[in-house]
Amino acid sequence: MRALVTGGTGRLGSAIVDRLRAEGWSVVAAGRRDGDLRRAGAARSLAERASAELGGLDLLVNAAGEGFEPRPFEQLAETDWDAALGATVKGSFFVTQGAAPALRESRGLVVMIEDVAAYQAWPLFAAHCAAKAAQAMLTRVLARALAPHVRVCGIAPGPVAVAPEQVERRARETLLGRVGTPADVAAAVLFLVGADFVTGSSIVLDGGRLLQSKA
Ligand SMILES: NC(=O)c1ccc[n+]([C@@H]2O[C@H](COP(=O)([O-])OP(=O)(O)OC[C@H]3O[C@@H](n4cnc5c(N)ncnc54)[C@H](OP(=O)(O)O)[C@@H]3O)[C@@H](O)[C@H]2O)c1
Repeated sequence: MRALVTGGTGRLGSAIVDRLRAEGWSVVAAGRRDGDLRRAGAARSLAERASAELGGLDLLVNAAGEGFEPRPFEQLAETDWDAALGATVKGSFFVTQGAAPALRESRGLVVMIEDVAAYQAWPLFAAHCAAKAAQAMLTRVLARALAPHVRVCGIAPGPVAVAPEQVERRARETLLGRVGTPADVAAAVLFLVGADFVTGSSIVLDGGRLLQSKA
């Protein structure tokens, strides 16, 4: 089985890559050096190169993202918007567009790595929340656009790769009283690979963060 993981050099992406390789997959783990996903041409050509290198594609994981920086409303700049939307929204779309022919051939799967920020309004992360809401909508739109040959699903993590000094606070924001791990996200990707009647929906993987009214 063959996979392209964008953001494959990042915290979540590298855990997904490691797990897929441990399960016997051939994986292209893409980082910025493999193309700037804010640009449509670079995004499409990454998918085409990965597919050529692997001899096809069974899975695309869109895990690239940037711009997760707290900024008060008054200070949010155009560059912050471009960072938040670029790789996450445009990148996810155009990599998927480039990968679609190979995925159709293999009856493959696209997994969007979303965020609970798509569903919660965080004033210090306006551009990030808007970008994640747009990406979560793309999961549904692309599921329709690529059906019936290709499934498109999402995973919306809560706190799963948290700086050590923030673990205690972020753990209190969940119902389970603990943070998750990138390996939890990788396990969900493997679940979706086998869930062949699931398309157009997203798994919320947040320890109950969305339901925690104190947060
Ligand atoms: N961390 C969490 O707890 C958490 C929670 C919820 C959702 N998420 C979501 O999960 C995704 C990955 O998060 P992460 O924590 O793994 O992030 P990360 O560690 O900062 O990694 C980001 C990845 O995206 C790549 N990237 C960034 N900008 C790019 C660009 N313009 N073109 C190509 N590649 C680019 C980076 O490549 P380089 O390595 O080359 O820089 C890296 O591989 C994001 O969409 C994030 O919103 C994360």
